[in-house]
Amino acid sequence: MKAIIIIIFTFCLISGQVLCFRVIGCTGGSVMFKCMNSKQKTSDYQYKGKFFCRNRDCTPGISTEIQHRWVNNGRFSLYDDENSRFFRVFIRNLSREDDGEYTCGNKQKWSHDVTLVVNKNSSSCGTSVIQSANTSQTITFQCKYDHGFEKHTKVFYRVNVGPVHVLNSSQSSQSSEEKFILSDSQKDHFNVTLRDISTADGGVYLCGVERYGFSQKNTHITFIKEISLHVYGQRTSVQVEAYISKSVFIKCKFPQKFKGNKKFIQKDSSQKIPVDEQNQWVLHDKVHMFDDSSEGHLNIFISDLTAADEGTYRCGVKITDKHLFTEIKLKINQVDNFHGSSKSSAVVGESVKLICNYPEKHNETKHICKENKKKICQIISSSEQQRFEFSDSAAGVFTVIISNVRLTDAGVYWCGAETRHKHLTSVSLTNKHQLTLTMPPVIRHEGDSAEIKCPYDANQAKEIKRLCKGKCFTKDAQNIIQSDKANVKKYISVKNDTELNLFTVTITDLRAEDAGKYRCAVKDMVYLPIELMIIMKDGITHEVSVGGSVSISCKYIRKQNQSVFCRGDQPNICVRDGVRVSSNNRINGRFSLTDQTSAGVFTVNISNLTEEDCGKYWCGEEHSGSFIFTEVHLRVNRDTISSDRRETEDHEMAKEKCRDSDPESNPFYWTVQLPTNPSDGLLYAAVSFQKHEESLSDTSVGFSKDDIHCDYTSVNYSITAV
Ligand SMILES: *[C@@H]1O[C@H](CO)[C@@H](O)[C@H](O)[C@H]1NC(C)=O
Ligand SMILES: *[C@@H]1O[C@H](CO)[C@@H](O)[C@H](O)[C@H]1NC(C)=O
Ligand SMILES: *[C@@H]1O[C@H](CO)[C@@H](O)[C@H](O)[C@H]1NC(C)=O
Ligand SMILES: *[C@@H]1O[C@H](CO)[C@@H](O)[C@H](O)[C@H]1NC(C)=O
Ligand SMILES: *[C@@H]1O[C@H](CO)[C@@H](O)[C@H](O)[C@H]1NC(C)=O
Ligand SMILES: *[C@@H]1O[C@H](CO)[C@@H](O)[C@H](O)[C@H]1NC(C)=O
Ligand SMILES: *[C@@H]1O[C@H](CO)[C@@H](O)[C@H](O)[C@H]1NC(C)=O
Ligand SMILES: *[C@@H]1O[C@H](CO)[C@@H](O)[C@H](O)[C@H]1NC(C)=O
Ligand SMILES: *[C@@H]1O[C@H](CO)[C@@H](O)[C@H](O)[C@H]1NC(C)=O
Ligand SMILES: *[C@@H]1O[C@H](CO)[C@@H](O)[C@H](O)[C@H]1NC(C)=O
Ligand SMILES: *[C@@H]1O[C@H](CO)[C@@H](O)[C@H](O)[C@H]1NC(C)=O
Repeated sequence: MKAIIIIIFTFCLISGQVLCFRVIGCTGGSVMFKCMNSKQKTSDYQYKGKFFCRNRDCTPGISTEIQHRWVNNGRFSLYDDENSRFFRVFIRNLSREDDGEYTCGNKQKWSHDVTLVVNKNSSSCGTSVIQSANTSQTITFQCKYDHGFEKHTKVFYRVNVGPVHVLNSSQSSQSSEEKFILSDSQKDHFNVTLRDISTADGGVYLCGVERYGFSQKNTHITFIKEISLHVYGQRTSVQVEAYISKSVFIKCKFPQKFKGNKKFIQKDSSQKIPVDEQNQWVLHDKVHMFDDSSEGHLNIFISDLTAADEGTYRCGVKITDKHLFTEIKLKINQVDNFHGSSKSSAVVGESVKLICNYPEKHNETKHICKENKKKICQIISSSEQQRFEFSDSAAGVFTVIISNVRLTDAGVYWCGAETRHKHLTSVSLTNKHQLTLTMPPVIRHEGDSAEIKCPYDANQAKEIKRLCKGKCFTKDAQNIIQSDKANVKKYISVKNDTELNLFTVTITDLRAEDAGKYRCAVKDMVYLPIELMIIMKDGITHEVSVGGSVSISCKYIRKQNQSVFCRGDQPNICVRDGVRVSSNNRINGRFSLTDQTSAGVFTVNISNLTEEDCGKYWCGEEHSGSFIFTEVHLRVNRDTISSDRRETEDHEMAKEKCRDSDPESNPFYWTVQLPTNPSDGLLYAAVSFQKHEESLSDTSVGFSKDDIHCDYTSVNYSITAV
């Protein structure tokens, strides 16, 4: 041994003062060595500027002035510590091309020749493997070495910015309590066992053997194996239950510090799908993903669930050389006891109740969400929740009341309950509700006037606008007004307000035949219909006695046969909630209805009158959803005198004597929230109807151009078609 060293030493001395040494690695492996001057003066090390280079331009190689930390240049790394008598060089992923002569040294004072030998003959050297482990598991890495290294020290390193010593076989204290244990067969392999793995243990490790250079003092390490350890953070997967043909919303939470990192999802053993964009929905197959950079969440939405969607999903974040993820076991239940999809209609300005049922075990926060244009159901944000009132009505059932319904509320809703886990929350959406809207009706007396304001987008000023009665754009459409044509009726006036982007149609001197549904249309877009209900000028008053009966004769204004008799303050609510008899249901207890078509009337009889019968009633006639009403006042006296009168003076008197029969009802003018800023992509419609005696505040509604789902008639409701 000594002889060999002397020979090398002597050989190296042949080239003058310069020492030389040899470093051996293998293809695919790494090598680490010290560049050291055994004849150095301490002062020589105070010079910065260390290098390990093959050519003058130092490619390949590395040169740096930086001290006290590893500096990298591709596969070459250098660590210069001014207090030591050497500096370290580390070369990773060696190839045959690296084989050759190099120089290492201090730029000012000294240099050595280094022969780098890259051996490709070793069967065990230069291997690279990926191993996976779950947290708290134990894993063993096996490192094979070639014949001849039995007595050499075996080392185990971890790669950080540079190589970091973990442990070696010559370390004396190796109790079984240690996190890392190295056991050397002293024949052909050694094992390194890593216990109680945590996510922090993930990374790249190196197995190596110590080799001698030209002296026992100057050794180098040949790394023979590289191991990439992936540690799966959350070993327990989260079970998420969803239902066939329904949807599921999952929010995966990651530590705030990874907000900017790329997220991914992975189904079963398929490829990881990176979420390339932040803060927008991205679709892959049928999985919608949204990387919320402000929260550091990854939202996942899957709709129209089928059995094929069942499986193990991972939602994760990429962190340098490892991944952090949550495993989701999505279970699709084939049957459910939930209501099928339901359709509800709401009047703008009123409220609407939606009923949701959910599996009782998911009894945490309840949610309702609305589908957007991409049919993604996002959880309604808390700011909007003021108008959404949740209440538990029974086990497994909750209701949501949406108050002050706006045009933008039309659409498809889903509701469901949330389940919460440490790293994710999921909402299994179980009920679908299709919400359509109608405008509140406009109710006027004969002779009054009604003003209909039709909105249009600023860029539609030049487009043809119309107000149609009944349908628009059909052959039988009745255009009340069309902006490119002369007025069709003399009692209609049009005002064109180009500043507010409104055109206003005023119908004066209303007549019974003006009752009906009106629609504003701009170009080919039609807005929600507005129903105009007409109340006949003359009402009917009957004064009757308790115990007696009354026969009320209501005149048909049109030649229609749908008649209704109802009780209530406002005719529109009366026909909805207060119907006593109608042409579809002619006998109802003490109430009966008969048609005298020849006389152009229908008669309603009420027998066995009580004092409670006193109040306001309406005779109504309906044709294709257009109503004409006659107000009926019934006074019930204790005395036995019975009299029938039809004069308007008595009508007013009766009103005073008899209390409101329906104290809970609202006036028929609706206060609908105005859009705060009409220019923010909102089209706004203002509908105001004037009555001569009172001054009324405008009733305005705001709505955006999309999101309106209407299922009326055959006209084109595609409000997005701008
Ligand atoms: C190692 O280098 C070879 C080329 O010599 C390259 O193909 C390979 O990707 C490298 N491996 C790593 C882990 O960098
Ligand atoms: C590799 O080994 C073969 C025989 O096993 C030998 O002939 C060859 O010279 C060796 N090459 C190197 C570069 O050591
Ligand atoms: C980690 O745990 C999961 C679920 O318990 C299991 O399927 C997987 O095989 C484990 N991985 C390893 C490397 O043990
Ligand atoms: C082995 O470990 C001991 C103790 O940490 C250390 O003193 C020694 O230099 C190491 N040897 C090698 C070759 O890394
Ligand atoms: C190393 O691990 C392998 C497989 O786990 C085992 O067969 C072998 O005996 C171990 N060797 C040592 C020296 O512990
Ligand atoms: C949810 O249900 C579980 C068991 O059915 C019960 O222990 C828990 O108190 C319930 N939580 C709520 C918020 O109702
Ligand atoms: C409203 O005024 C604008 C600008 O003067 C004009 O282009 C448009 O045709 C008018 N619309 C109606 C309905 O009169
Ligand atoms: C209704 O009352 C009138 C007179 O009070 C009576 O002639 C008629 O037969 C009654 N009709 C019914 C259906 O009760
Ligand atoms: C309305 O009139 C039509 C024909 O004129 C008739 O077929 C229908 O039965 C009538 N409906 C009612 C409720 O009287
Ligand atoms: C009216 O009252 C009488 C006696 O109280 C009763 O016999 C009769 O059935 C009642 N008629 C109706 C339609 O309720
Ligand atoms: C509805 O409007 C869209 C867009 O303008 C148009 O493509 C479609 O043909 C229209 N449909 C009908 C029934 O008018």
